[in-house]
Amino acid sequence: MPEGGIDPKRRRFLAAATAVVGGAGAVAVAWPFLASLRPSARAQAAGAPVEASVAKMEPGQMIREEWRGRPVWIVRRTERMLDSLDKIEPRLRDPHSKVESQQPEFAQNQYRSLKPEYLVLIGICTHLGCSPTYRPEVSPPDLGEDWLGGFFCPCHGSRFDLAGRVFKNVPAPTNLEVPPYRFLNGTRILIGAAPGEAGEEVA
Ligand code: FES
Repeated sequence: MPEGGIDPKRRRFLAAATAVVGGAGAVAVAWPFLASLRPSARAQAAGAPVEASVAKMEPGQMIREEWRGRPVWIVRRTERMLDSLDKIEPRLRDPHSKVESQQPEFAQNQYRSLKPEYLVLIGICTHLGCSPTYRPEVSPPDLGEDWLGGFFCPCHGSRFDLAGRVFKNVPAPTNLEVPPYRFLNGTRILIGAAPGEAGEEVA
């Protein structure tokens, strides 16, 4: 009898059998889990476009979605918020969205959006990836008299306006990213597919 009491061939067979059983067990555990996901969650996991409804949004409200594992914010901007975008421009690093990687072409405008009323952004700071805080209020004590609303990153103090445009003299180098998206109708947005792009399947 070989050392250890087990024939080497039998040892290899046992090891292979254990691996197969283990793999089958993993599949058995994973499959019900995947099958249990809602269609939207499965599509999300695969990176498919994700549908969001803005039908119930109040003026000034922000909602959060998720696309490809990243947070996506949708803000319904008020007239006051849209007016602030002009005033703030001298304090911004890239007010005209010249850095092309930060938005699709359709969003390379002052509002950085398809429709001025709705802002859609990836909610990740362009400095080191923290998630900034939505701060729509005007002149809050902690952000100063001249704050007109926007996004504040608590990690290192980067500031962005209500179009996700980065301020000068903060650590973040670029504007917040705008994902591809389009409107399916007046109140439904498909995140992950720009106008004219494929992506009809709706999560
Ligand atoms: S991660 Fe946002 S300022 Fe550093």
